[in-house]
Amino acid sequence: DKPQIGVVGMAVMGKNLALNIESRGYTVAIYNRTGSKTEKVVSDHPEKHLVPSYTIEDFVNSLEKPRRIMMMVKAGKATDAVIAELLPHLDKGDVLIDGGNTFFEDTMRRNAELDNSGINFIGTGVSGGELGALEGPSMMPGGQKEAYDLVAPIFEKMAAKAEDGTPCVTYIGPNGAGHYVKMIHNGIEYGDEELIDESYNLLRNMVGLSVDEIADIFSDWNKGELDSYLIDITADILTRKDDLGSDKPIVDLIMDKGGNKGTGKWSSQNALALGVPQSLITESVYARYISVLKDERVAASKVLPKPEGKVEFDKDAVIEKIRQALYFSKIMSYAQGFEQMKVASKHYDWNLQFGEIAKIWRAGCIIRAQFLQNITDAFDKDPELDNLLLDDYFKDIAKKYQESIRDIVGLGVKAGVPMPEFTAAISYYDSYRSAVLPANLLQAQRDYFGAHTYERVDREGTFHYSWYKEQ
Ligand code: 6PG
Repeated sequence: DKPQIGVVGMAVMGKNLALNIESRGYTVAIYNRTGSKTEKVVSDHPEKHLVPSYTIEDFVNSLEKPRRIMMMVKAGKATDAVIAELLPHLDKGDVLIDGGNTFFEDTMRRNAELDNSGINFIGTGVSGGELGALEGPSMMPGGQKEAYDLVAPIFEKMAAKAEDGTPCVTYIGPNGAGHYVKMIHNGIEYGDEELIDESYNLLRNMVGLSVDEIADIFSDWNKGELDSYLIDITADILTRKDDLGSDKPIVDLIMDKGGNKGTGKWSSQNALALGVPQSLITESVYARYISVLKDERVAASKVLPKPEGKVEFDKDAVIEKIRQALYFSKIMSYAQGFEQMKVASKHYDWNLQFGEIAKIWRAGCIIRAQFLQNITDAFDKDPELDNLLLDDYFKDIAKKYQESIRDIVGLGVKAGVPMPEFTAAISYYDSYRSAVLPANLLQAQRDYFGAHTYERVDREGTFHYSWYKEQ
C-alpha cells in the first residue's frame, strides 16, 4: 500500500501526529530535513506502518495521489522553505496542509499563491499540545472545501472525540479561516490562564491561603461549572513539589516571567485592526508583558507603597465569590472572542459557523471545558446570536454572579492585588449593558478642537457646533 498521507517535520508535534494517524489504520510517509530524526522515529516504532524518505522527491513520490502532505514545521520562514522545496514535485490537485501555529494572513497568502499553481492548501489549527497530537487533537482546518473533503476522513479519525462521539474537527472556511480560529482559540487560552492565575493570586495574597489549600479549591471547582482542562492541570500543578530536592511547592520556585509565542498578541492586534473590543485577551497579553519586567518590579516594590489597612471578609464566602468572579469573567472573555470572530467572518468573507466552532473545542484542545457545551447550545438555539451574553444561560449567570465580581474587584483593589482581567471583565459587562456611554462628551471634544462633527440623538444628519461663537 502506498502511504495515504505524508508528514513533513519530525519534531514532537509532527512525530506524534504521524503516530496518531498511523494508529487509525493508515500508512504514513514521513520526512525530516535532518534524516537522523526520521531514522530515530522509525527505529523507535518498528511495528508501525511508517514509510521513511530521505529526500523530498522520494517522499513525494512515495505517496498515493492526489497527495496529502501535512507540514509540521516551525511557523514562518520554515513553512515557506518547505513549500518551495515540495512545489516542483507536486501535481495539480495535491493537498498541502500546514498544521503549525501560523499567522492567518500568511495562510491567506500561501493559499492564494498555491491556488494559482492548482495546488490545494489547507491551514489547520491543531490544539492539544504533544499529548493531544498523539491521542487526538482538536483541529481547525481552513482552505478549499474540495481539498478539505479529501482529508476529512483522515482528520475525523485522528481528531479528539467529544462526549457524544462527534470528532473535534470541522471545515472552518476558506483560506486563512482555520488559522484565524486557532489564533482566537489561543487568545482565549491566554485569557483563561490569566483568570486562573488572578484567582490563585487573590486566594494566596488576599485570602492568605497556602498552595496546598488552593490546590484543593481548584480541584473542587473542577467538579462544577468551571470543569475544564486548565483548571484541572492547575489543581495538579499546585500539588507538585520541587523536583530538585527541597520540599517547597514547585510554583514557588518557578520565575514569575510569562513567556509567549505571539498568538495572543495577534488576536489583540487583529481586534484593534477590526475595531472590536477585546479587552480581556489584551489584558492577559499585557499581564505577561509586565511580568517580564521583573527587575523593575522588584525595585518598584521597595519604593512604591502598598495599600494601608486590611480588607475584611468572610473566608468561605470570599472563596465562593472568587469562583463566581472567575466564571463570570470567563463568559465575558468568550463573549468577546466570539464577537471578534463574528466581525472577522464578515470582514474576510468566511461564513464561520460559531456553533460548530464551539463544538470542536469541547475536547482535545487546551481550552476544552464543560462550558463549551453551553456555547454550542446557545448557537444551536440561535445561530445569529449577537453576543453570548444575550443567551438565556449566560444572561442568567451574569445576573447571579455580577455582585460577586464587583465585590472581588473592590476587595482586590483595596488589598492591592492586581487583577487586570477581572477588572476588564466587569468593565466590559458594564459598558455592553449601558444604553448610554460618555462617548457623547467625547464626540463634543473631538468636534470642539478638530471640527470632527457628530451625530445627534434627536435628528438625522451630521452636525458641527460653533464652539468659538457666542450662542
Ligand atoms: C494548543 C496551544 C499551543 C501553543 C501554546 C502557545 O492549542 O495546543 O495553543 O498551540 O503552542 O500554548 O502559547 P504561548 O504563546 O503561551 O507559548
